[in-house]
Amino acid sequence: MTVPADSTVLAAVRRELPDTLYSCEQGFCGTCQQRVLEGEVDHRDELLTDGERDDSMLICVSRARGERLVLDM
Ligand code: FES
Repeated sequence: MTVPADSTVLAAVRRELPDTLYSCEQGFCGTCQQRVLEGEVDHRDELLTDGERDDSMLICVSRARGERLVLDM
């Protein structure tokens, strides 16, 4: 799916998968954490450790750094 510049990944995903879990939408609860299979993430949260950032992201605030991300939804 395409994520518009003015949308979060979470909002785009929820249009296709309405049951996707979330809570704070501000990057501090961790409810929206998803595993990343491919692509580089622009992490914008303050919660995940460097180790967690190696293979996951908080989709309410973080975005793709490049053209494409593959998430394990
Ligand atoms: S919904 Fe809380 S960190 Fe994303």
